[in-house]
Amino acid sequence: NQETILLTEVKKFESRSEEFFPMQWYKEMLHDKPVYYHEETNTWHVFKYEDVKQVLSNHTFFSSEGDRTTITVGADNKEGTTPDKVNLVNADPPHHRKRRSLLSAAFTPRSLKDWEPRIQRIAMELVDDIKKSTSVDIVQALAVPLPSMVIAELFGVPIKDRLKFKHWVDILFQPYNKENQQELEQKKQAAAKEYYQYLYPIVVEKRQNPSEDIISDLIKAEVDGEKFTDDEIVRTTMAILGAGVETTSHALANTFYSLLYDDPSLYEELRNNVELVPKAVEEMLRYRFHIGKRDRTVKQDNALLGTELKKGDVVIAWMSAANMDEGMFDDPFSLNIHRPNNTKHLTFGHGPHFCLGAPLARLELTIALQAFLQNFSQIESIEPFDLENNLTDSAPGQSLTHLPIRVYK
Ligand code: HEM
Repeated sequence: NQETILLTEVKKFESRSEEFFPMQWYKEMLHDKPVYYHEETNTWHVFKYEDVKQVLSNHTFFSSEGDRTTITVGADNKEGTTPDKVNLVNADPPHHRKRRSLLSAAFTPRSLKDWEPRIQRIAMELVDDIKKSTSVDIVQALAVPLPSMVIAELFGVPIKDRLKFKHWVDILFQPYNKENQQELEQKKQAAAKEYYQYLYPIVVEKRQNPSEDIISDLIKAEVDGEKFTDDEIVRTTMAILGAGVETTSHALANTFYSLLYDDPSLYEELRNNVELVPKAVEEMLRYRFHIGKRDRTVKQDNALLGTELKKGDVVIAWMSAANMDEGMFDDPFSLNIHRPNNTKHLTFGHGPHFCLGAPLARLELTIALQAFLQNFSQIESIEPFDLENNLTDSAPGQSLTHLPIRVYK
């Protein structure tokens, strides 16, 4: 069973808003305690760019294996589990390689080209709906639905079932907190079962009649003579959902927050130069993807972080803090889409586990923002907006539940 380490136990944030954007804390930790041991949770924490990179990528010393994680998703029953061949996030090389190669079959540059117009269509549908009014909750109208609709489309799920699909996804990947663990687990178990029973026959059918979608690609994938079974494919889709839906929603919601509150002049600049959108997306991922962290378990005693680490110790790598390391980024605490090296952020991780869906996430964010910019001349915040009461715990950190904006055609 997985043990959840709540961020709030490591740093006692005064409010959700502070946790949403803990820039001050990152500043302090980067400066005063770049390698920090937290006694209560018995965990090490690293903040600097090079240390975070090292912990994420040096699998000889820092292992992804084992159950302990700061992020728990999915359900704890037989429908919700991921068998060995599928579970790549918790594997080290060399086992990791084959699993990753199998899954990579669905994430090729060719697929990406084919996905572009399909994502564009979905983004346009959502943006057209927004055009019907002069104000909108951009989280509920765009940031939340887009990624799950896109993945449903790329899996090849029939359009009529999208809402059902989204409903399961919402439950399956709702984050645990210490209070709601039991109740949520029951809901997740039910959702995992329904999802499994829904998707399994679709996989069986696609094996007979493959088409242009991720499920068909996974059916065809073969590495060293091994292929996925139907059961493994259903579970793989769950793992992809767990990795790719909430994260992308979170990034999109934060992008709009940033356009309203970090730099209100940016919207016009982007509207006049839509080719700047990919750069803006990178900078948003660097600056406003909070809170990005992953953990590893020490595999062999070492002093790679300048302190004695023992086998079995847990180390948490704070990517969002590393993204603000002055040793790597000039003037890191300000938002600057023209920063020459903003693709160097660690929001997608580093090394063998580097996010397999990063090109897809980038494409979704770029397309969504471009579709939006092409349709609205201007956006404004609607005040008063009470950030504190519009945030909720989520696997990637505090995320926005609502963000009302006024839109001008
Ligand atoms: C891995 C972040 C979107 C699929 C990762 C990792 C990070 C990450 C940090 C590395 C985990 C580690 O080192 O332990 C993000 C962010 C996203 C995003 C910030 C959105 C803005 C997606 C999407 C997909 C996806 C859209 C697929 C549809 C995966 C997979 C892995 C992964 C399969 C596991 C790779 C491996 O372990 O080899 N992601 N991700 N991600 N991501 Fe993403």
